Amino acid sequence: MTRFICSCGGKLTGRIRVPGDKSISHRSIILSSIASGISNISGFLQGEDSLNTIRAFQQMGVMIERDHDQIQVKGAGLYGLQAADSDLDMGNSGTAMRLMLGLLSGQAFDSRLIGDKSLSSRPMQRVIDPLQSMGAVIESESGGRAPLRVSGNHSLTAIEYDMPVASAQVKSCLLLAGIYARGETIVREPATTRDHSERMLRGFGCEVISNNAEVRFYGRQKLHACNIDVPADISSAAFFMVAASIAGDSEITLEHVGINPTRTGVIDILNLMGADISLDNQREMGGEPVADIRVRSVELNGIDIPQELVPLAIDEFPVLFVAAACARGTTRLRGADELRVKESDRIQVMADGLSVLGVEVETKVDGIVIQGGDYRGGEVESHGDHRIAMAFSVAALRASGEIRINDSANVNTSFPGFVELARDAGIRISTHAG
Ligand code: S3P
Repeated sequence: MTRFICSCGGKLTGRIRVPGDKSISHRSIILSSIASGISNISGFLQGEDSLNTIRAFQQMGVMIERDHDQIQVKGAGLYGLQAADSDLDMGNSGTAMRLMLGLLSGQAFDSRLIGDKSLSSRPMQRVIDPLQSMGAVIESESGGRAPLRVSGNHSLTAIEYDMPVASAQVKSCLLLAGIYARGETIVREPATTRDHSERMLRGFGCEVISNNAEVRFYGRQKLHACNIDVPADISSAAFFMVAASIAGDSEITLEHVGINPTRTGVIDILNLMGADISLDNQREMGGEPVADIRVRSVELNGIDIPQELVPLAIDEFPVLFVAAACARGTTRLRGADELRVKESDRIQVMADGLSVLGVEVETKVDGIVIQGGDYRGGEVESHGDHRIAMAFSVAALRASGEIRINDSANVNTSFPGFVELARDAGIRISTHAG
């Protein structure tokens, strides 16, 4: 078991580039694998989650070469994937499993998707139901859990689907199945979610129509290889945005971060709390907006988090709870029940850890209330959730004692090199085995 030990105090300075965006990295491999021609990807996230996605397509016969964060994919074409001779292991990644399920539903061969303990307990019925109504044949464990068995050779018909949850994974799963379906797939979302799939499909030459909360997409469109520059992941940058905000006398610049408006809820929420954040050198790279984000320390204030920002900051709440613990006054979050079905139950796991540190918290079915103030050190459990481990490393900046974070190895799923980068930036963190 890997444990992080974080001494208290410290300040953040310098310019850093965090690893590539996880959502965009997964999608870049999936779409380039079924495109015609050679795609070159740069800035790819070398984390376990996205490397598992590469491995899955290699198992299905796609030629993929990797030199660090540079990837070359020789696309197999829409109908060129081959049956894997063993299970496709999606590790810890809900995104990979749900997106792959959509894609595999449209193939001519059978597949079996497996994952780790956390992933095998996460809800898959939300994608199985609409895929079955398109004609997909899928078997799951009870309660719609992985392992998932997909039977190939069933022709898919496009559906019109009103998503009951605001989920980019469900939307993207249906668009990927929609590529193989007859007719027009129409997906409506109850609130805006990240739109990387729609943008990237357009980059591969497909026509995708997005209108308010609706996406329309005709199946059987051919994808043409293209080059992709993966920006730094705003979800990884978020740890440093909060760190530099709460640690005294800090200023940090996070380079080349993706600032797609469907992902910038963390900036909006921190700004509402009074943060000092500026976006410099804004530009567009391959269909995605990018900027250098400069953050200076400031006294934050507790707020009621606007519910429309929840899906736009869904992965950043663990570290936003740390910001709330350091803020003056009370922060309230509601409408965030999805946090309970992430890599861990992020409401409960964060509440437990913050309580160990002496922070006053009250959990709700769909949220949390956090009273800001001083807090101590202590030993907290990350439950193998990468973002919980990183959030508590940031918390140490303002604790009055050392914070020890158990079960932290999964930080490698989304942020390889976190410990080294955090240390360079000013967080007093070290890793210990056992
Ligand atoms: C993701 C969508 C979100 C997010 C996840 C990545 C994606 O999940 O939490 O980390 O890449 O589509 P949901 O779609 O379940 O909200």
